[in-house]
Amino acid sequence: MKLLVCGGAGFIGSNFVRQRVQENGDDVVVLDKLTYAGRRENLEDLGDAVTLVRGAIEDPVKAREAIGDGVDAIVNFAAETHVDRSISGPDAFVETNVRGSLVLLEAAREREVPRYVQISTDEVYGSIEEGSFTEESPIVPSSPYSASKAGGDLLVQSYFHTYGLETVIARGSNNYGPYQYPEKLIPLMMLSALHDDNLLVYGDGLNVRNWLFVEDFGRGISHILAHGAPGEVYNVGGPTESTNLDVVNGILEHTGKDESLIKFIEDRKGHDRRYSLGSEKVKALGWSAQVGFEEGLERTLSWYRDNPSWWHPIVDSADFREYYERHYKRPLTWREAASR
Ligand code: NAD
Ligand code: DAU
Repeated sequence: MKLLVCGGAGFIGSNFVRQRVQENGDDVVVLDKLTYAGRRENLEDLGDAVTLVRGAIEDPVKAREAIGDGVDAIVNFAAETHVDRSISGPDAFVETNVRGSLVLLEAAREREVPRYVQISTDEVYGSIEEGSFTEESPIVPSSPYSASKAGGDLLVQSYFHTYGLETVIARGSNNYGPYQYPEKLIPLMMLSALHDDNLLVYGDGLNVRNWLFVEDFGRGISHILAHGAPGEVYNVGGPTESTNLDVVNGILEHTGKDESLIKFIEDRKGHDRRYSLGSEKVKALGWSAQVGFEEGLERTLSWYRDNPSWWHPIVDSADFREYYERHYKRPLTWREAASR
């Protein structure tokens, strides 16, 4: 296929592009603004199979340029994605996640793109104490991030109903794996442990997340791209539900570090207690998760251990340091990284 992958230089997008190039032989155009979270290096190994267009999805000229003579499908990963950043500064989230989705949808309609896949999140359903969300669960987002993702999803549905654009929405649970920007729980805790620094856990650490290895999400998205019914939503949930404390203890065990590194800090505002995503609908398309949490955690840790040249420039960057110090109200003291 010829694919336009928006946000393809980020964590999940770049893993998806790698899978499509290596396993399907696709020709991929990536449209990416290269924000702090997007990196050219994430696609470096893929050579000529990938063309990177630097630009924002909310820029209609760039969107048309990226579609070029036409593509078989648009897969939209582009988003502001970190819940904590959305709490301290929600504007960019509305601009990219809502307005950006609208501009892309309009470009897809204008250019008669045959298929549009929106990458969304379980967070649009809000928090659930018991049981699991289905695709019919009400949309009750809690944070500016999840509200902006819900806004994007509703626009996608409107383009299906109003214009007959062939849309599908893939809602994933918490992803982890190689190339994840170290502001998110798993890579941040891994790098903190490797630097013998505190693992900073919000609240009581008993919030539950439904962990999905990034390659499994990619395979789910490919199933939905190929077989999803137009206008439908598909949940793609991970095989494991864990409290944050269990995840952090697992990381300490895998790194051989002591529990005393755990430090409980002030809770996230509006912190969703539990996510749990039922994935029967995508399983009926032939998908199932292949990577268990223990294996995924080990593979992720090995990747961060083996690729300091990927994360050193990030943790040494002004953006990361300023964000870390502002958000955690403490200096980042990873001397080893700082000295590179
Ligand atoms: P990420 O933050 O690692 O990557 C986002 C990418 O989008 C970056 O390359 C960034 O440069 C690009 N981008 C941001 N604003 C842009 C804009 N205006 N125009 C073009 N490009 C822009 O995010 P991720 O974790 O890879 O998430 C990708 C998608 O998957 C998002 O839509 C997110 O909501 C969704 N999602 C993420 C998770 C998760 O656990 N990380 C789970 C479910 C769904
Ligand atoms: O559920 C899917 C969502 O997962 C995606 O839509 C988001 O883009 C993605 O960022 C992620 O959101 P979360 O808020 O669940 O992920 P995060 O890694 O930020 O946090 C996971 C849990 O760990 C959450 O309960 C908050 C907690 N946490 C996080 C950080 C960064 C800590 O206790 N300490 C931390 O330092």
